[in-house]
Amino acid sequence: MDHSSFQKNILRSDALHQYILETSVYPREHELLKGLREKTNKEHKMALMSVPPEEGQLMCVLLKLMNAKKTIEIGVFTGYSLLATALALPKDGKITAIDIDRSAYEVGLPFIKEAGVEHKINFIESPALPVLDKLLEEVKEDELFDFAFVDADKTNYGEYHERLVKLVKVGGMIAYDNTLWLGTVAVPEDPSHDPIVKEGRSALVKLNKFLAADPRIEASLVSIGDGLTICRRRY
Ligand SMILES: C[S@@+](CC[C@H](N)C(=O)[O-])C[C@H]1O[C@@H](n2cnc3c(N)ncnc32)[C@H](O)[C@@H]1O
Repeated sequence: MDHSSFQKNILRSDALHQYILETSVYPREHELLKGLREKTNKEHKMALMSVPPEEGQLMCVLLKLMNAKKTIEIGVFTGYSLLATALALPKDGKITAIDIDRSAYEVGLPFIKEAGVEHKINFIESPALPVLDKLLEEVKEDELFDFAFVDADKTNYGEYHERLVKLVKVGGMIAYDNTLWLGTVAVPEDPSHDPIVKEGRSALVKLNKFLAADPRIEASLVSIGDGLTICRRRY
């Protein structure tokens, strides 16, 4: 996807964004998260896909606040959000991490290993939907997830939601990344945009409306990164 005409960060003041990074984010960023971020930026042409560090930091705080132990991630790429999660979980924490492409995960794997958190991760190379369907058949009530992070194909977010709202325990959290989709959700569709941008926009406009009215959850669309919708399962 050509992102050159888009600004992924929704905060449109570069000075303020830089201030947040320099004052609050970089001084607390784990050195291996920094290493993984820098390696991804240097070596991967799709580096823009990584969760930005201020969002990784918010995820860490949320995971620790809720004492999360068991999580699921859909969309790993080189593993910035995965490593941030793994570092936030206790030693016996467990993450089911799903991505259709293992090769990107392997770029980040040396950092995950060096951080001593690889044992918490069960990486599954697969499209996410069949894995979620299998989990729905297998997982018992007392094995439900504390937290789910969704950062993959936007057109399937609605399908993921229907499954995750059953796989995450009552009181647990589901977070959807990119729900402001480069700001495009707030303006009419632009026919000149890349088809992937248009497709994502239409899926996310629909999802945002759906989540706002879904009685099974409480939700807040947070304007961080490219938009992060944080949901809590009510029942
Ligand atoms: C935006 S990136 C994830 C970024 C990651 N959270 C991070 O912090 O670096 C999206 C990922 O979703 C994966 N993906 C796309 N479609 C998928 C699907 N149907 N099932 C599982 N993963 C998928 C892609 O291979 C890609 O690695």
